[in-house]
Amino acid sequence: MEFAEVVRRRRMVRDYDPDRPVPPELRERLLEHAIRAPSAGFSQGWAFLVLETTEDRELFWRATTSAEAQERKSDWLVRMRRAPLLVVPLSHKAAYLQRYAEADKGWTDRDEARWAVPYWHIDTGMAALLMLLTAVDEGLAACFFGIQPSEHPRFHQAFGVPDEYTAIGCIAVGYAGSQDRRSPSLRRGRRGVEEVVHRGRW
Ligand SMILES: Cc1cc2nc3c(=O)[nH]c(=O)nc-3n(C[C@H](O)[C@H](O)[C@H](O)COP(=O)(O)O)c2cc1C
Repeated sequence: MEFAEVVRRRRMVRDYDPDRPVPPELRERLLEHAIRAPSAGFSQGWAFLVLETTEDRELFWRATTSAEAQERKSDWLVRMRRAPLLVVPLSHKAAYLQRYAEADKGWTDRDEARWAVPYWHIDTGMAALLMLLTAVDEGLAACFFGIQPSEHPRFHQAFGVPDEYTAIGCIAVGYAGSQDRRSPSLRRGRRGVEEVVHRGRW
């Protein structure tokens, strides 16, 4: 597929065919492309938790969904739960503080005030976008979604994730189901180039 078409066709899909697993070679391609993302100081402070078995995926949904939401069995949850593959991208701040304390960078105080923005989340987000684009290129559907702050401790505990890693969200992947619903947020409309771009001066 032409790159421009991949970009144009990328969108979040919220229903999956539960009977069509992601072929292993495509799963690996997503992950291989993820690690091609750029990273500050080539720190590569990221990790990816891959969940494929029914047990692992159910554990994820139980750990990251409040009892109230599970009870309610929201439409969103019912459809998202059908995704045969979940990839949780995690950022690793300590890897950046460590990398930038090395001789060629020299920030040995590891002061977080030196960081204008949290590059660890940015880089992991770039890796996530590469997975979303790769999914489109391979005829798969995907959706990046958030994990509520209150659910992080249970998520860490369920999968033995070290505390110094932060799940920036989760990517559901699979073949699109027939009951996909577009986000109501799309009614806001896409902000145009002329609205968001400032040329030369603000
Ligand atoms: C950081 C981030 C968090 C998001 N969280 C959710 C979410 O929790 N649930 C969801 O259904 N979609 C989530 N989305 C998807 C957005 O709703 C979607 O990207 C936006 O409405 C534009 O639609 P499109 O990506 O299909 O073009 C998230 C997207 C991003 C980038």
